[in-house]
Amino acid sequence: MKDYIKVDEWKIIEEGFDPHHHKISESIFSLGNGRMGQRANFEETYSGDTLLGNYVAGVYYPDKTRVGWWKNGYPEYFAKVLNSANWTIIDILLDGEQLDLAKCEVIDFRRELNMKEGYLKRSFKAKTALGKEVAVEACRFCSMVDDETAAINYTITPLNFSGTITITPAIDGDVMNKDSNYDEKFWDEVTKATQPDGGYIVMRTKKTGFEVATGMKFSIVQNGTVIQPKAEAIQKEKYVASKVELQAQQGQSISIVKYVANLSSQNHKPEGLIVQLTSTLNRIAAKGFDTMLAEQAANWAEKWKHNDIIIEGDASAQQAIRFNIFQLNQTYTGEDDRLNIGPKGFTGEKYGGSTYWDTEAYCVPFYLSTADQKVTKNLLLYRYKQLGKAIENAASLGFKNGAALYPMVTMDGTECHNEWEITFEEIHRNGAIAYAIFNYVRYTADDAYLANYGLEVLIAIARFWSQRVSWSQAKEQYVMLGVTGPNEYENNVNNNWYTSKLAAWCMEYTIEVIEKIKTSDKAKYEALVNKINFDEAIETSRYKHIIEKMYYGYDEKQGVFLQQDGYLDKEQILVKDLPAVDRPLNQKWSWDRILRSCYIKQADVLQGIYFFEDQYDIDTIRRNFDFYEPRTVHESSLSPCVHAILAAKLGDEARAYEFYLRTARLDLDDYNNDTEDGCHITSMAGTWMAVVEGFGGMRVRDGKLSFQPFLPEKWASFSFNVGFRGALLNIKVSKDGVQIKNLSGNEASVLVHGKEQVVKANDELLVEA
Ligand code: BGC
Repeated sequence: MKDYIKVDEWKIIEEGFDPHHHKISESIFSLGNGRMGQRANFEETYSGDTLLGNYVAGVYYPDKTRVGWWKNGYPEYFAKVLNSANWTIIDILLDGEQLDLAKCEVIDFRRELNMKEGYLKRSFKAKTALGKEVAVEACRFCSMVDDETAAINYTITPLNFSGTITITPAIDGDVMNKDSNYDEKFWDEVTKATQPDGGYIVMRTKKTGFEVATGMKFSIVQNGTVIQPKAEAIQKEKYVASKVELQAQQGQSISIVKYVANLSSQNHKPEGLIVQLTSTLNRIAAKGFDTMLAEQAANWAEKWKHNDIIIEGDASAQQAIRFNIFQLNQTYTGEDDRLNIGPKGFTGEKYGGSTYWDTEAYCVPFYLSTADQKVTKNLLLYRYKQLGKAIENAASLGFKNGAALYPMVTMDGTECHNEWEITFEEIHRNGAIAYAIFNYVRYTADDAYLANYGLEVLIAIARFWSQRVSWSQAKEQYVMLGVTGPNEYENNVNNNWYTSKLAAWCMEYTIEVIEKIKTSDKAKYEALVNKINFDEAIETSRYKHIIEKMYYGYDEKQGVFLQQDGYLDKEQILVKDLPAVDRPLNQKWSWDRILRSCYIKQADVLQGIYFFEDQYDIDTIRRNFDFYEPRTVHESSLSPCVHAILAAKLGDEARAYEFYLRTARLDLDDYNNDTEDGCHITSMAGTWMAVVEGFGGMRVRDGKLSFQPFLPEKWASFSFNVGFRGALLNIKVSKDGVQIKNLSGNEASVLVHGKEQVVKANDELLVEA
């Protein structure tokens, strides 16, 4: 755990340069706009330890799988988020000596991520080995308004000399993925060009053939006036630059504004890329840096209006929750249903593909409440469009009749994961996709989604489960053999309660939706039946039989659902009794020791109880929580938020807060010692859930939002905005009670502690404590 980030309610601030923190900060200070993003690499050359990262959403490369022991059914490729052309570079020479913070004395270093207005700022003074002193200020952002563009304003002032400053803005397409399986480079150059004030390079991915054109246009200001210096064009393989030599006077600043555009063939015809790129660059350069930045601030102001959480009385918690919301908005804007939310977003390469069950289980609730409904719909459509590949995937594993198994990790619908215990066994992901459909419709009442898309996905998933179960003669029940639950510290187990529960629920929900659509839109239902060859009578009667006869492990003595067969045979030593030196287990213990232990990586039975909370009485929830929580090591960042929500539900406010703290500052404090690989973007949505569903106790009940809030002891108040069926509400929880402001023109009716409250349009009311 580190604590070098300064607390500020709207900013992330690092003061002083410590190279040991550099890669962590490169992750934390990352920028993005849903279409592209990058780690906070320095503009000038840095020869120290760094992880270069520039990413273009949806552009990937299928890296050939590398495993020790090949198993039939493994995918041949792992589609990876691609490190793409580095457009940040502004190289600096001071009388021929390179400015490189790894080799300088660095004074007054400060990095600041302004979350309110969406930009990254850096300032420092540096003294080179030859004694040259300069002051630098750099500001950059990825435009939220014009999402194929970005801009950098870089100012350098010689402090103790007059001489030649050489500024070389560049674009470097010769980049690699650190996680490349065979040390291969994934990009080929298509073409490039340089002009006196800029240049571009077009790169094409090997195999997938994506083309990305990255261009720059720059202007230079010296002593307050724009100058047109002579620039030397430099072209090397996969690299373009313009070298500008300027005579600088001591104390006088030189600024370069570098406008950048990044266009991909996903959104433009390859033959039109260069024309589009040039006109985009001209457009933003004509607009100017300050106007672009002002538009950026206005765009973020609008975003914050919808999704800010304000915490009074705890600046560190305030900073943390805003950081989570900020990063989620930088990662996914919902504009494009071909894109999704990678566990690391645009902050690192780890986890390869972009889509895990994290999206459906964790991110959907966040976007449902904080963004237009079309944003979540696009996340659902992403899966709908990949249904064909999910059916192919299931067929390749021996399933029939249109059964679908969605991939554990994917970019375009193809399975990428290649560890058998996860690829073939962690099939609960299929259930999360059905659950997200249910969650979306419960929240939005968009029943048309079910008729148009949802039911087709549900039937394909139900078909999978109905084939995946086995009939046990011995038990005279259906069993679910050879699975891995969310707790990846158990593999190849039988009757994982969560998976079986989810499977049966999927079939139940499918039947419910069939009934609904049959009545509401018979024609569409019949068209679907024909399209997918659905034999309703035969197939649903099998579902019903499975639902009725599904086996679930239960321990009578303790009154808990059994995580899986044999769980209680394990030595039951609680996490609190584990020596601290043994943690985290995944770094300290051999894998076989972990597998034999009772320790739970992340919410498993409790994930199911969270999903299906309404089906259980409070005593059942408490018994399961009290049993499983002490055995959970939370070695996935997705875990503590579920525990926080359940602890809040059980009235254990202190523990709810404790779990919340574990998720909220996970990256800012580098809690798990792994932030240098990138931020835990998907679990950030879990942090939001811990506040809104945990402390705010928000649920959807009978088509209404319901709140059962409590105020964490340390806080004076907290408030959050949620959108729901045309209304925008601000809920503020303080010692006075619960204040509800209706910020929209539509009347809203909500439940607070079970009692209905009607808030007129643009009105507010207080439910006293
Ligand atoms: C978790 C998975 C999760 C993945 C990506 C793993 O550590 O166990 O549940 O999907 O990370 O976030």
